[in-house]
Amino acid sequence: MTPDMKVTIAGVELANPLMTASGCCGYGEELANLYPLSKLGALVTKSITLKPRLGHPVPRTAETASGMLNAIGLANVGIDDFIREKIPFLAKQKTVVIVNVAGSAIDEYVEVSARLNDQPAVDMIELNISCPNVNEGGMEFGANSRLTEQSVAAVRKVFSRPIIAKLSPNVTSIADIADAAAQGGADAFSVINSLVGTSVDVDSWRPRLTNNKGGLTGPAIKPVALAMVNAVYERSRLPIVGIGGIATWSDAVEFMLCGATAMQVGTALFIDPFTPVKIVNEMKTYLKKKKISAARDLVGKVRKY
Ligand code: DHB
Repeated sequence: MTPDMKVTIAGVELANPLMTASGCCGYGEELANLYPLSKLGALVTKSITLKPRLGHPVPRTAETASGMLNAIGLANVGIDDFIREKIPFLAKQKTVVIVNVAGSAIDEYVEVSARLNDQPAVDMIELNISCPNVNEGGMEFGANSRLTEQSVAAVRKVFSRPIIAKLSPNVTSIADIADAAAQGGADAFSVINSLVGTSVDVDSWRPRLTNNKGGLTGPAIKPVALAMVNAVYERSRLPIVGIGGIATWSDAVEFMLCGATAMQVGTALFIDPFTPVKIVNEMKTYLKKKKISAARDLVGKVRKY
């Protein structure tokens, strides 16, 4: 018998628990040249803002031990071009479409989300209240309970389908921030966004990123992400999308055991864009061997001491 890989996030059924992480496959067009996006549980787009953004000058990525630093600066086409040029493609894909939304003020999140509410191809939005690389907004919202609640509540008024709040790890208590997002009306959480970090070239004495610091991702952050997923799981009943260094089927199983209902693959896509598809297949083998009939039965089952 093949294990049931379907999971549900805020009433939306996913064919399997594996998504792409925001910023790691643009708007999905290049990935669709490699495999049908129906193989993904969901596709998450790069953050969309009100106006187009070129982002920071290069270099804006740097490799680190078991990870990657990046400060892209929310480069994206802006909501007008996104709706005109990217939505028609996304509407044709047989996968759940999650649009990540960013802004530098609450009004910007609201305006972008209101425009997306009119687009039936958008199944959910993921609110990026945790970007480490912009001067205004982003992490500033996600590091403060009051601003988190206010920004989610403001978007809640204009977006009628599920809202996933993407939480920052750069906080004292991620569970407190999750509470605030739930209070504002979030339907689910993405846990975690990147950790602030830097790296310096010892010849030039220059930081390796023009933004001087950036977001750390990849396997280096997996243990942090797992602990934070579990902290949010123990605090809230809302579903969790686990993110942070997932590259193999066993990484994904660890996240589910710690409380994630679904997972996003980010940095690993740059090494192998097939990673989420491979993880789904290999997780099926694991579940069969363990005689577990449904992937969702793993959620939160870590046997803690
Ligand atoms: C960017 C945004 C993020 O949320 C993140 O984790 C890393 C980088 C960016 O566009 O700079």
